[in-house]
Amino acid sequence: MQVHTHTFDVVVIGAGGAGLMAALYASRNQAKTAVISKLYPTRSHTGAAQGGIGAALGNLEEDHPEWHAFDTVKGSDYLGDQDAIEFMCYQAPEIVYELEHMGVPFDRTPDGRIMQRRFGGHTNNKTGKPVRRACHAADRTGHMILQTLYQQNLRQGTHFFNEFYVTDILFHEGRVAAVVAYELATGDLHVFHTKAAIIATGGWGQLWEVTSNAKTLTGDLPAVLLRRGLPLEDMEFFQFHPTGIFKLGILITEGVRGEGGVLINDLGERFMEKYAPTVKDLASRDVVSRAIYLEVKAGRGIGGGKYVYLDVRPETVNKYAKLDGRTNPDGTPYVVTEEILRKKLPDIIDFCKTYLGIDPMKEPIPVQPTAHYAMGGIPTTIKAEVIRDENNTVVPGLYAAGEVACVSVHGANRLGTNSLLDIVVFGKVAGKEAAAYAKQASLAPLPKDAADFTREQLERIKNGRGNERVAHIVAEMKEVMQEYVGVFRTEEGLDKALEKIRELKERFQHISITDKSSKYNLELMEAWEASNMLDLAEVTALSARNRTESRGAHWREDYPKRDDQNWLKHTLIWMENGKHRFAYKPVVITKWQPKERVY
Ligand code: FUM
Repeated sequence: MQVHTHTFDVVVIGAGGAGLMAALYASRNQAKTAVISKLYPTRSHTGAAQGGIGAALGNLEEDHPEWHAFDTVKGSDYLGDQDAIEFMCYQAPEIVYELEHMGVPFDRTPDGRIMQRRFGGHTNNKTGKPVRRACHAADRTGHMILQTLYQQNLRQGTHFFNEFYVTDILFHEGRVAAVVAYELATGDLHVFHTKAAIIATGGWGQLWEVTSNAKTLTGDLPAVLLRRGLPLEDMEFFQFHPTGIFKLGILITEGVRGEGGVLINDLGERFMEKYAPTVKDLASRDVVSRAIYLEVKAGRGIGGGKYVYLDVRPETVNKYAKLDGRTNPDGTPYVVTEEILRKKLPDIIDFCKTYLGIDPMKEPIPVQPTAHYAMGGIPTTIKAEVIRDENNTVVPGLYAAGEVACVSVHGANRLGTNSLLDIVVFGKVAGKEAAAYAKQASLAPLPKDAADFTREQLERIKNGRGNERVAHIVAEMKEVMQEYVGVFRTEEGLDKALEKIRELKERFQHISITDKSSKYNLELMEAWEASNMLDLAEVTALSARNRTESRGAHWREDYPKRDDQNWLKHTLIWMENGKHRFAYKPVVITKWQPKERVY
């Protein structure tokens, strides 16, 4: 493996929305900036974000950033840090207009303003009814943001290293010294000597069997940091989006329900009326996902199966809109036609045709909850600085933003549309902060053996002579994560999951791969990714076992109540010589004291 060395002020790892926004702002602030990505940037998973970006523009009806902030706090089941939430929600209108001015082609109201739609958990705080807060570009909002940010970076002169896997981060006396990456095309190693690094690699939904997440979302960087002695925060909180295509997990946007689609069980009932009488199908995701599971468990899945229907046929939408007394902003009754829905949901209609062979204007869509989003991750301050402990001690030169980070704006459960908002708000903060840091910092000395740890890991995989196959290990991991570390959890189930994950980690020591080549060796990288997923699966199951309460997306059947007295706190977990250690951080409360959530 040849080793190449590069020097930058700021290295951004990941080329989704958070990474590209960070890179844009680092570049604009005169930092020589590189983006390193496993993918060609416009293939990043931000492109899969469909329904919208949340901002209280009030373009169609009354709305306020304060309402957005309170909904986010409530949606987070009071685990979100309220200073960060207020910051994000008050920044939202300005940053959406900034995206608009960069070129994001948002849909328009008849008078030319940005169009907005309803989304789960976003409410008028006076009436408790859904509010139109999601700014959208049809049902491909993330895709549009991603393309726009990439173009802006090209214009700004950001350097791109595509199809490079970051395998290590090196520190000197506690501060960032370098980032190490493996180049897929050649098998060479690259050492990026840098003053600052920003991690923006997204989530790790690939730990589960049914997921909306792309194949690449394997949690590499959180695993790298665990190995380098840094903690992860709130790993027990992983969101299941209620509407993934049955068995495939592919996302069917909440925007479908925002436009009036409803969830139906085998008896033809719109069952969300029982679980969330005020907002019904637009309750927050944890509530809707649990409701689907409970319907299935009670034998009311379609044909007794493990799924329900999402019905967005115009006649169904109009029937329930009438029953709900839903109106347009001008007070006229809300009525849709096939033509309107086809225009608002083109990608969804396409996905259903491609993957299910159905037309959702004529037939309901079979859906089940799908592993979607990590609320936990790399702990950061509100300035996107990575911290190393419960006292918020900053790691100089290291930043994280977007889904991979835990700032924490989503707490125990994220509201839809807040992820696109999070990536641009905190991506921008990270870019600016890293550039400012780089301006006053010198490069830390680079160790001679910078690439050694990476080389050792990859050679161990390549030279393995055992009988174990990586694909089998990953499949078994996904199965136990789905069964025991999913929407509902118990101590017994989590123990079974942990036992299995540890067995799989042991078996991983005895793998072999067939491809020994240097160029485009995806088998090698998939094995390395599997090692990362196993480490994350273990900390997820351990954190879930440790938290003996139910809150947001973490639902313990053996502890079915939220327990603010003992658990209104963030979990930090470390992996030290194969052993794990916990510590806790208080939740930041500015003005909203925890209350029971009612929908
Ligand atoms: O339902 C959706 O369109 C997903 C959006 C999100 O996760 O924020």
